Amino acid sequence: MAGRLQNKRIMITGAAQGIGLAIAQACHREGAALLLLDRDGTLLATTTERLRASGATLFEASADITDADAVARAVGDGAAAIGPLNALVNNAGINVFSEPLAMDDAAWQRCFDVNLKGAWNCCRAVLPGMIAAGGGAILNIASTHAFTIIPHTFPYPLAKHALLGMTKALGLEYAPQGVRVNALAPGYVETQKVIDYWNTFPDPQAAKAQTLALHPGGRIATPEEIALAAVFMISDECPFMNAACLTVDGGLSVRQHE
Ligand SMILES: NC(=O)c1ccc[n+]([C@@H]2O[C@H](COP(=O)([O-])OP(=O)(O)OC[C@H]3O[C@@H](n4cnc5c(N)ncnc54)[C@H](O)[C@@H]3O)[C@@H](O)[C@H]2O)c1
Repeated sequence: MAGRLQNKRIMITGAAQGIGLAIAQACHREGAALLLLDRDGTLLATTTERLRASGATLFEASADITDADAVARAVGDGAAAIGPLNALVNNAGINVFSEPLAMDDAAWQRCFDVNLKGAWNCCRAVLPGMIAAGGGAILNIASTHAFTIIPHTFPYPLAKHALLGMTKALGLEYAPQGVRVNALAPGYVETQKVIDYWNTFPDPQAAKAQTLALHPGGRIATPEEIALAAVFMISDECPFMNAACLTVDGGLSVRQHE
């Protein structure tokens, strides 16, 4: 049976672990060829070895998305290896959390370099090929932080708000050329990033329990549950979804109070 992503050649950033890895695995299951990029080359090599063993067609690039030249090289080499890219998942991102006045300029810069400029570097590298080919799909992994604020997480939510803005801007700009640009907004997802966050509290178990209790269903998402939504959004099953944001947070951001 043909997969839902047959004929897709998808670049996924931050693919070595967490949500990016789950999206890579799901895209492979649905028949896509993959360009997997991560700045952690060692971890990426382990990941790609497992995916290749399960039959994946893929090209791997150890690169930092803040390095526009390295991204452009990865896109060029990847396209030569697996064919012209017709989808991009901008997933790589980092937490930079601070009380606003306690934040230094380096933290602000790092946050926007990775979470916003890095995503733009990847868009800029793939868009000309998509436009020339008559279309493509870009999916930006945003967050519920793209439209809500948790105190003391400054300036991460600002960068995610801006990523949503970039989704809308590029979605409008390139709709005539057949390129769809959308955002997916997960709430909490159990990945290393969230475990590291819980570990910043004196009692990580209590912090985790508090997070779970915020959710109407009493649990947070698995990376695989986010990947299911990503596959749908990249696929041809939603050809008129553009410049949109799909929230996948178990209802977290809708709840106002107990
Ligand atoms: N985990 C969550 O609860 C959650 C919720 C909402 C949104 N998100 C978003 O989902 C995305 C993935 O999050 P995750 O939890 O899987 O993270 P993670 O830390 O588990 O994995 C992120 C991967 O991205 C890579 N990466 C980071 N910076 C990079 C860079 N500059 N260049 C290349 N690779 C880089 C890391 O090496 C890592 O392999 C992020 O954009 C994050 O903001 C996560």
